[in-house]
Amino acid sequence: MPIEISPITTSDIPSVVECIQLAFDDDPYSNWAFDKRPGQFNKQRNFASLKAKCEWGIRNALFYVAKDSDRPDGAVLGVSMWMKPRRADEGQTWSEWVDEYILWLKQGWNLVRYQGRGGLKTNRYWIWKREQAQAQAEIWTDPDGYYFCNIVTVRPGIQGKGIGRMLFEVVTKMADQEGRQCYLESSKDKPNIAIYEKMGFQLVKKMACEDGEDVCDLFCMIREPQAKP
Ligand SMILES: CC(C)(COP(=O)(O)OP(=O)(O)OC[C@H]1O[C@@H](n2cnc3c(N)ncnc32)[C@H](O)[C@@H]1OP(=O)(O)O)[C@@H](O)C(=O)NCCC(=O)NCCS
Repeated sequence: MPIEISPITTSDIPSVVECIQLAFDDDPYSNWAFDKRPGQFNKQRNFASLKAKCEWGIRNALFYVAKDSDRPDGAVLGVSMWMKPRRADEGQTWSEWVDEYILWLKQGWNLVRYQGRGGLKTNRYWIWKREQAQAQAEIWTDPDGYYFCNIVTVRPGIQGKGIGRMLFEVVTKMADQEGRQCYLESSKDKPNIAIYEKMGFQLVKKMACEDGEDVCDLFCMIREPQAKP
């Protein structure tokens, strides 16, 4: 299976969203933040929301897809989306502000079109955002900023074959050259912490998102820049 990593294009989006939805089907954060009961979770609504996020990511993130170059259907086998590092003294540009506003409008339209959030427990989303902001304020001490791995996933059935490493290395190599740190939040301790340790990340904090008795733990990991061999 000859795997190629390339920047995402608009035509990849349906396959990217499918790949993310498959991988996050049993994800602890997703199961905490969404009401997955039949009739509550709306997969089409979730698809529309992820599609809008991908359209934003094409212009604003480091966004890569893994494909089998022998497969004529161009199916996306794995995805990674990274936020670019931002220096502590650097603000948002006008074009970033406009793109965020467009994303907000699209999500507002999805809210109307699908008559709701499709099972997203909004209070839990905001609990996560609050905890994330607190964790990053505590952990992100480097004024040069961090490459933030926001999404990484490989299709079930072909995990453990090196595709995740390829998706990581496209950005970790960049980070090493620039002497920058990388950051991620994993919603699974096993096996993901061990996988990310293989990529050079270290666990720095456990973030507990608490909604009463229902708690979702997220594992914050940092990767220091590594010297070239
Ligand atoms: C996490 C994920 C992206 C990793 O991608 P992958 O293609 O499975 O990983 P790779 O095959 O490239 O393996 C990377 C390294 O981890 C190791 N590894 C893979 N699976 C492992 C496991 N179950 N336990 C321990 N180590 C493992 C590999 O040996 C490899 O190390 P090496 O290159 O030094 O030999 C993928 O497994 C995945 O999509 N999981 C489900 C969705 C998910 O959890 N996404 C992340 C949410 S935070």
